[in-house]
Amino acid sequence: MEPRIVVLASGSGTNLQALIEATRERDFPGQIVAVGCNRPQAFALERARQAGIETFTVDHTEYPSRAEFDAAFSAEIERHSPDLVVLAGFMRILTPEFVRAFHGTMLNIHPSLLPKYTGLNTHRRALEAGDSLHGVSIHFVTEDLDGGPVIAQAQVDISADDTPDSLAEKVQQMEHVLYPIVVRWFCEGRLTLSEDGACFDGLPMTTPMVLPANDA
Ligand code: GRF
Repeated sequence: MEPRIVVLASGSGTNLQALIEATRERDFPGQIVAVGCNRPQAFALERARQAGIETFTVDHTEYPSRAEFDAAFSAEIERHSPDLVVLAGFMRILTPEFVRAFHGTMLNIHPSLLPKYTGLNTHRRALEAGDSLHGVSIHFVTEDLDGGPVIAQAQVDISADDTPDSLAEKVQQMEHVLYPIVVRWFCEGRLTLSEDGACFDGLPMTTPMVLPANDA
């Protein structure tokens, strides 16, 4: 049986779209069985429907606490028996209980070269710091916000005329390349999370895989 993937999103879902297209390739070793959302109006839901993928929405504004939302949301996810949960622009901080439930089977994409710039406004912060390189990271989700073991990164050059918006666009282009690659590795059984961190083909990754800017 092919690995079952549940994608969680909150917004426009361009990463979801890239994953939908990748998993449609005949030799892709996994299938997206459902897309879950915390915002009923998220365009990601529309993308999933157009692709014929089942969706579920748990509106976080209807829950009095984060713990209650997380419990309801994880019950919905579990209903689809996922082998992999992919956070693709999912904009909620998750409780430790939620994260523990999917330990070693949940990936996130973050628009910076972690450990730099966890949290929000990463493009503006990279520009303000005068960095010459920026990019995207894909990591296993642990209880540490944006702090789980990094699997892969793609770099982009920052040029003198970049703005937060132009930089976001460059980074997103790389997100759409990198996420399908990493999801494929996971589905092929090449990626695991051990006590020592992320492992590739059973060996601990001492550094993330990096797609350098000048190859982009
Ligand atoms: C991406 O930039 C991702 O890095 C961040 O949220 C954004 C989601 O974009 N976590 P989209 O919804 O996939 O278009």
